This record gives sequence, structure tokens and C-alpha cells, in this order.
Amino acid sequence: MEIQKILVVGSGAMGSQIAMVCALAGLEVAVQDLAEASLEKAQSELRARVDRNVVKGRLSAEERDAAFARLSFDTDLAPAAEGVDFVIEAAVEKLDVKRELFAELDRLTPEHAILATNSSSFVPSRIADATGRPDRVVNMHFFNPALVMKCVEVVRGPQTSDATVDATVALTERIGKLPVVLDKEIPGFIANRLLGAVRDEAIRLLEGGYASVEAIDTAARTALGYPMGPFELMDLTGIDIGYYTKQGRFEETGDPADAPSRSVTEKVEAGELGRKTGKGWYDYTEGDH
Ligand SMILES: NC(=O)c1ccc[n+]([C@@H]2O[C@H](COP(=O)([O-])OP(=O)(O)OC[C@H]3O[C@@H](n4cnc5c(N)ncnc54)[C@H](O)[C@@H]3O)[C@@H](O)[C@H]2O)c1
Repeated sequence: MEIQKILVVGSGAMGSQIAMVCALAGLEVAVQDLAEASLEKAQSELRARVDRNVVKGRLSAEERDAAFARLSFDTDLAPAAEGVDFVIEAAVEKLDVKRELFAELDRLTPEHAILATNSSSFVPSRIADATGRPDRVVNMHFFNPALVMKCVEVVRGPQTSDATVDATVALTERIGKLPVVLDKEIPGFIANRLLGAVRDEAIRLLEGGYASVEAIDTAARTALGYPMGPFELMDLTGIDIGYYTKQGRFEETGDPADAPSRSVTEKVEAGELGRKTGKGWYDYTEGDH
């Protein structure tokens, strides 16, 4: 099956850039989000970002204009889902929202369409049974910022077919990314599980009063060669993302070790979610960072 039209659901930090990656690769892309404001923000941020690439000579003005011409934005799911071959869902990281969305997508998209989720933590089997096509449900997990990061984890659930995995791998390659296939689903997949172990230890050190946010980040960068420290990374990805991931796992296992930590919970309750709100572990409103 030749994939021609993609639907990206959710136009936040991830969805907006995933849509642009696909449009730049020559695919027709419909972007849907419930919030008009999010669609507007996505368009203006993409303009600024892609314009920068034109100024830097990485992209021609014609390529930019052609990519924007292939993008459409809608608050209604039904018209956006019409005639699509492949869906990449990048809505908020809440299982009930995703399950409801997938049931809707199953109803609204052509029968052959593959329904992929960009979820950072929910494996295909948590979502697939909300649809009548569990063999065509898969995780296609991008990294932030999606316009830049090469790796895409392709995660198969017990019901995902070989054809679905093959088509997802082929699409990943077509949009210039590097697919990493997980043969068996596990929450968090590969990269985030590795990262999570480092982040949990960083929070333990902070909450135990052993070292400051700055000290822990500096050690990660200068001793381990990480491009950024665990707190800087949480601010970049959104502190709420990790919070909901942990909350979801805790609800599943009931193990207090899986629950979000005290300091992360406080940040989320205070609405200090990182760069996107101007404040997280660091303050971005006064030129800090
Ligand atoms: N932020 C990251 O670093 C990152 C990385 C990889 C994967 N992800 C995954 O990508 C997904 C989105 O994350 P994000 O950081 O872009 O979040 P975000 O909060 O920036 O954007 C989420 C968007 O979804 C929209 N939305 C909510 N419910 C919706 C619905 N029912 N239908 C349509 N749109 C809806 C919101 O209006 C918002 O614009 C999550 O599943 C997350 O796990 C995030």
C-alpha cells in the first residue's frame, strides 16, 4: 500500500513537528486538534522554525512553501480523517482520551488505514482493543524535537501484524528517520526506560537533599557527557509528560515505587511544567537558561 495521506491528531509540541516532518517528505498531512489555539500556535511556531532553516540554507523557500501547501489544519476529526492511509496520534498522554480517540478513528478512517500512536508509555495492547482493527494498531514513537531527532521506536503489540510493522518502518524511513523496532511491547520502550532510570536517581538525590538541580545536571553533562542534565531534559519535554507516565504505571501496578515523586507532583500541581509554561525546574522568564 502506498501511503499518500497522513492524519496527525494533536498539534502540540510533538504533533506539530511530526506533521511538518511528513509534509517535508512530500506527504499530504491533515492536522487535527480540539483546540483552535493549539492549531494556531502550531502554525506560527512551524513558520518560525522552518523559516530559520531557509535562512540557514538547509531548505529552499520553494520546499518550505510546498510543505506548507501539503498541510491542512482542522478542529473537526471527521473531515480530517477522510481518505487517510495512516494516522499518527499525538494527543495528550491520557489513556482514556487515547482509547476514545482510537474508537473514533476506527469509525472515521478507511478500513486499510494504520492507526499509530506516538504515546511515550502506552503500549499497543492498551489501545488496540478500542478498535475493530487491532492488527493495524502500532506505536510510532518520535523523540523531541521531532523535526531534529532521528530515532523512531516502532513497537508491536501481540496483535500487530507484520504488514503493519513493515509499513510503519517503511514510512519512518521515507520521512528520513531511523526506525528501531521493539519485537515485544514494554511500557516506556527502550530509550525512555534508560532515561527513566537516570531521572529517578536524579530526583532521589534532589529529594534526599544530596545535591541541587544545577549540581546534578552539571554532573550529568560534564562527567557523563550527556547533552543535557535530567532536570533540563524534563523541562524540555514537559514535566507533566513524565508525571502522567508514572501515574499511569502506578495505577496499573499499585506499587508505590512507580508513583510520581513528591517534587514532580508539586511542580505539576503548581502548573510549572517546564519550558512550555515558562517555568519548571528552571525559570525561563528572566533569561535563565
Ligand atoms: N513531549 C515529548 O517529549 C514527547 C515525546 C515523544 C512522545 N510524546 C507523546 O506525544 C503525545 C503528545 O505529547 P505533546 O508533548 O505533544 O503534548 P502537548 O500537550 O504539547 O499537546 C497535546 C495536544 O493534544 C491536544 N488534544 C488533547 N485531547 C485531544 C483530542 N481528544 N483530540 C485532538 N487533540 C487533542 C491538545 O489540545 C494539545 O494541543 C503524548 O502521547 C506523549 O506521550 C511526547
